[in-house]
Amino acid sequence: MSADPVSPPDSAAGATIDRSGGRRGGLDQICIRGGHRLEGAIQIGGAKNATLPLMAASLLTGETLALSNVPYLADITTMANLLVQLGVEVGVNGENGMRHGRTLELSAREIADTTAPYDLVRKMRASVLVLGPLLARCGEARVSQPGGCAIGTRPIDLHLEGMKRLGAEIALEDGYIHATAPKGLVGAEIVFPTVSVGATEDLMLAATLAKGETRLVNAAREPEIVDLAKCLSAMGAEIEGAGGKEIVIQGVEKLGGAEHAVLPDRIEIGTYAIAAAITGGNIELQGADIGLIGALRQALLATGVDVEETEGGVRVAARNGRIECVDMTTEPYPGFPTDLQAQWMALMATAHGEAKITETIFENRFMHVPELSRMGADIRLDGGAAVVRGVERLKGAPVMATDLRASVSLVLAGLAAEGETLVSRIYHLDRGYERFEEKLAACGAEIERDIG
Ligand code: EPZ
Repeated sequence: MSADPVSPPDSAAGATIDRSGGRRGGLDQICIRGGHRLEGAIQIGGAKNATLPLMAASLLTGETLALSNVPYLADITTMANLLVQLGVEVGVNGENGMRHGRTLELSAREIADTTAPYDLVRKMRASVLVLGPLLARCGEARVSQPGGCAIGTRPIDLHLEGMKRLGAEIALEDGYIHATAPKGLVGAEIVFPTVSVGATEDLMLAATLAKGETRLVNAAREPEIVDLAKCLSAMGAEIEGAGGKEIVIQGVEKLGGAEHAVLPDRIEIGTYAIAAAITGGNIELQGADIGLIGALRQALLATGVDVEETEGGVRVAARNGRIECVDMTTEPYPGFPTDLQAQWMALMATAHGEAKITETIFENRFMHVPELSRMGADIRLDGGAAVVRGVERLKGAPVMATDLRASVSLVLAGLAAEGETLVSRIYHLDRGYERFEEKLAACGAEIERDIG
């Protein structure tokens, strides 16, 4: 097991690109020649959005937490480097040491530092998830305010209000949140005014070591929350109700180590399911759990695409002919996930008819619209909704990625478009998709990464 920080995937820093497809400076871009039906099999990895809070859970104990089926992604590397900075020993092994479902061994014997610095939090907002565990374990945490991001302001007021309910004192100093609980945290009832995945996770982590009972009301119900509760229970926590609207945690004195396999990534499953649909293809998603993608499955069936469970996962097969447009509204789980909204829009851009896509989770998650329009998509914005009128064929063009899921929607559009599409600033993609172009090329896509 190597104990040094894990190295990031090879993703260069972005640079600016002129629209003619010219490049200045070293630049990650992906070139796709569209028009190929995707057929074959794709191995689904562990869920990024489960792995991040699971890694933060290692701070709650001095014993070793071993996480398997961990994806090889930039965000995981960022979290690993943050934990190392806090004093956690991080060991990595797995095929080729870093790929194909590796295992992380995390041991926070001593917490050397309780500060999550701006340069790391800025890169990845999920760093805020160390707030709850540090408060619970050490009675103190200094976490940089994450600032906004491309898809919205994304405040963390629900995290902070919840910590106060558990008895923490919160001060804001020089862009840092300084949280202290000198007498330890005390269980309380916390009612979330709006559903928040991160706040539910942060407070669940904090409550495991608080004195007495904590009730999280109007909690997020995502499968990643259930996976975190399962791991925490294996570590000795007492948690009931995860996956429902109310989670009850009885605080315990101490937590121990555990071994936990990360659940499959439902957003990766959904992304490749849409890749099959948009190219009129047929792909088996190996290791996928159909129970994780209920809302997407219903939506794809309504368009005329088959989504069936197989021995090893899920098969997605487009029937002959053009698929039909289907309206979609993003909602907290079990509703349609906001992290698949951009991908759904790419699919609707070439479907028959008109689809209204309503984004209810984030206030600025339509940045893929102007880029899809450059490829000939017919989309008009109408407040919090986008109305997509399907066209026969998109046209390849140079386009620019703005955030993780927008970048993948542009690649999906490129797979179906006529001619060549160049997607620049593709480093966004490395945050959430492991061996992305490799997996698509293995199913017949003409796609390559061009590191200038
Ligand atoms: C998690 O982000 C995911 N990230 C996001 O995935 C996902 O889009 C989001 O949940 C919604 O499902 C991880 O799990 C690492 P929220 P999170 O708190 O926890 C507002 C991806 O592409 N809010 O559920 O930050 C917030 O602004 C990423 O993988 C507050 O107002 O999302 C948003 O409008 C993108 N105050 C809404 O709640 C708070 O304190 C939902 O946010 C917290 C959130």
